[in-house]
Amino acid sequence: MSYIAELIASNRSYRRFSADRRPTRDELFGMIDCARLGASAGNLQRLYFSAVYDEKDCASVFENIAFAAYLGSWRPDREEAPGAYVIIWSCSEPDANLAIDAGIAAQSILLCARDMGYGGCMFRSMKKNELVKALGKSGFVPVLVIALGTPAETVVLTDVKDGNIRYYRDENGVHYVPKRALEDIII
Ligand SMILES: Cc1cc2nc3c(=O)[nH]c(=O)nc-3n(C[C@H](O)[C@H](O)[C@H](O)COP(=O)(O)O)c2cc1C
Repeated sequence: MSYIAELIASNRSYRRFSADRRPTRDELFGMIDCARLGASAGNLQRLYFSAVYDEKDCASVFENIAFAAYLGSWRPDREEAPGAYVIIWSCSEPDANLAIDAGIAAQSILLCARDMGYGGCMFRSMKKNELVKALGKSGFVPVLVIALGTPAETVVLTDVKDGNIRYYRDENGVHYVPKRALEDIII
């Protein structure tokens, strides 16, 4: 496997983190700097970014994002909460092009993070108004929250069986993510 293929394969959605090593301000800025260079529709570059690393701000973000819908009411304990966040913002409700731009930026940030030994997860489920208020970003709309930190869970890819794409956990907390087979997605 090439380095980039391995990086992509290891870039799972991690939702439990160790407090041992948290992304620093400089590291978060480095990730955002990579996203800055990415493609955007019409090269309009309509996205804005926040690096959230202050403990109080991290706690506010943690309170306002929704974890893993398929796992019911599960949330990480505070001790396993993300160590930092990058938030992607726009100036208005995102149209389709802007949402695509945000996805490209988010993947760049997560791949950079993975390359630095971190991991993370994108969050679209969030309390937008509360987040704007808590972080003092009036005039901006949060498009995606990216939680980041040192992963403290094992995530395993499996094959989709009988069309079931729901991720699940076993009794040891190992998180399984079914993926469709290559032959099933090429048309
Ligand atoms: C646009 C987008 C929004 C997502 N929103 C959430 C979210 O709100 N909460 C969450 O726990 N995971 C969220 N995820 C993570 C997905 O659940 C995850 O990508 C999926 O389960 C597959 O796992 P994998 O990323 O390890 O392949 C989101 C992913 C994407 C791409």
